[in-house]
Amino acid sequence: MNPKKSLISANTIRSRFLAFFAARGHAVIPSASLVTPDEKGVTNATLFNTAGMQPLVPYLLGEPHPLGTRLVDAQKCLRTVDIDDIGDKTHATFFEMLGNWSLGDYFKKEAINWSYEFLTSPEQGLGLDPKRLYVTVFEGDANAPRDDEAVAIWQEVFRGHNIDCGGDTTSGQAGRIFYMPAKNNWWEAGDNGPCGPDTEMFYDLTGKFGGQPITKDQYLAADESREVVEVWNDVFMQYEKKDGRIIGKLPKPSVDTGAGLERLTMTIQGVDNIYDTDLFKPAMAITNRLADSLSKQRIIADHIRAAVFLIADGVTPSNTGRGYILRRLIRKAVFNTTGHQLSAGAIADLVAAYAEVYNETYSILHTKIIEISNVIREEADKFSASLVHGIKEFEKIAKSGQDISGVQAFQLFSSYGLPIDLTVALASAKSLTVDKADFEAEFKKHQELSRAGAEQKFKGGLADTNDPMVVRYHTATHLLHQALHDVLGDHVSQKGSNITAERLRFDFAHGAKMTDEEKKRVEEIVNRKIAEALPVQQVIMPKSEAEQTGARHFFGDKYGEEVSIYFIGQDLASAYSKEFCGGPHVSNTSELAGPEGSWHFKIQKEEAVAQGIRRIKAILA
Ligand code: ALA
Repeated sequence: MNPKKSLISANTIRSRFLAFFAARGHAVIPSASLVTPDEKGVTNATLFNTAGMQPLVPYLLGEPHPLGTRLVDAQKCLRTVDIDDIGDKTHATFFEMLGNWSLGDYFKKEAINWSYEFLTSPEQGLGLDPKRLYVTVFEGDANAPRDDEAVAIWQEVFRGHNIDCGGDTTSGQAGRIFYMPAKNNWWEAGDNGPCGPDTEMFYDLTGKFGGQPITKDQYLAADESREVVEVWNDVFMQYEKKDGRIIGKLPKPSVDTGAGLERLTMTIQGVDNIYDTDLFKPAMAITNRLADSLSKQRIIADHIRAAVFLIADGVTPSNTGRGYILRRLIRKAVFNTTGHQLSAGAIADLVAAYAEVYNETYSILHTKIIEISNVIREEADKFSASLVHGIKEFEKIAKSGQDISGVQAFQLFSSYGLPIDLTVALASAKSLTVDKADFEAEFKKHQELSRAGAEQKFKGGLADTNDPMVVRYHTATHLLHQALHDVLGDHVSQKGSNITAERLRFDFAHGAKMTDEEKKRVEEIVNRKIAEALPVQQVIMPKSEAEQTGARHFFGDKYGEEVSIYFIGQDLASAYSKEFCGGPHVSNTSELAGPEGSWHFKIQKEEAVAQGIRRIKAILA
């Protein structure tokens, strides 16, 4: 690693990027808000911008942009799908994505050449060593052919700079350009919108390959260990997807590129994690006093930074939607501090540190510094107070000096919301142990009891629809129903449903066994909707009006004049799922992630029950 590189700050990288493309005819546009507009009629709407391309989707689809066909920006993004990975070297919830855009203007040749030039030029770009670059391209599938064009352009670029590309990339010989499947080199934001193959650029962080061509296996292993990191992605937008299927080509091929500022900065500054860059260093100097482990210090720094930007964009903590994400971020930050308390002083210091780091681009953080600190402090205090009750109760139990039983730990969890990890930590500070196995057994027993209760009532003709697990599975059934429509098509009408506290069972019309790939996609969609923390809401309206909303219902069923619709999403028009249904349901899909946020939706079994009717059994665990 080259310590001289640390001279280039993240702010310089951002401004050099914008200037580089401005000099090549691109209009510089400001970042859109993190908060996506609540557009009517938009399905799969997300709460926040999760990629630079999101605010530009209409223009990629053909609408003319007022500033022309070449744009460049640094877009604020927020992703919560990887929230459990925060604390490692490279994941962040909030991040900035640098991107240059061709809206039906230039295509692969210019995009690739400029990417190379910006990354490697010491004068106009970042001066990275071109010999340490390795790239991937799309290997082709049923949707689109192998991208030999991109390979030819890359070969020309490398060879034009006297860089050895190695042998044929399909033969297993050492090389610099590797074909990869759609999982890696196809880009789309969800199931609807513009998409296409991409080419990704990776940098050998440690210099371990000595600037030489490498085999694909070497590349894959180094990617896995984060010794090579992705620094940029050029997407060649050519197709449009609807409900997960390609429906045609875009009016004009376009380019969407994305370089994560955090990872790029880490690469340029010669460090092996984003928290050692100048974007995080001032905050880490504060969080290192707030928690004892590095990963906790990073979680606090990451989550507070995301909270700062969310509040600056007008989000406030609440129990649904965007506000719930903000609430969870602040609470998780507090929970990771030693003593589960984030003091007013520490909050003020952290907010001030970020306002300073981002002053050049987001002076709004300085303008709103008091408001941002107050919002975080209020939420943090509320959360600490609720934990205090649980901790008091723990102290009472621990007074006996005896180890904590599973039943006691479970009671602390079910009555006071005390997470098991906290109970273990509190106990170990007193040299006591917690019977975790017994806690798990207690947890299970509780689930079985509620299931038994449900079955008991079921025998009497009435399922225990108020059992929390049954309610969760009911909402999961609605998500599954819509996901099956997305993946298999609109013929998959519901033929039956049976829910217990242990699992859901769903019967639907479909002529063939589902492939593993289809099952995986359905699971992914449901888990994504859970991660998006969508509100689940009820509206009651006259039947004739309700039918106009497109909510799913059963043509055989009788409905009264007034019907109830449950929809999952911000509003009825843009909801991901809507069904005629009497409920009850959870109030937010995040409740399906379980008390510790660690559950996943899994299809356990998919089988035929009759000609043309399939049955899925699925669990949240
Ligand atoms: N939209 C592409 C990405 O986010 C550039 O990677």
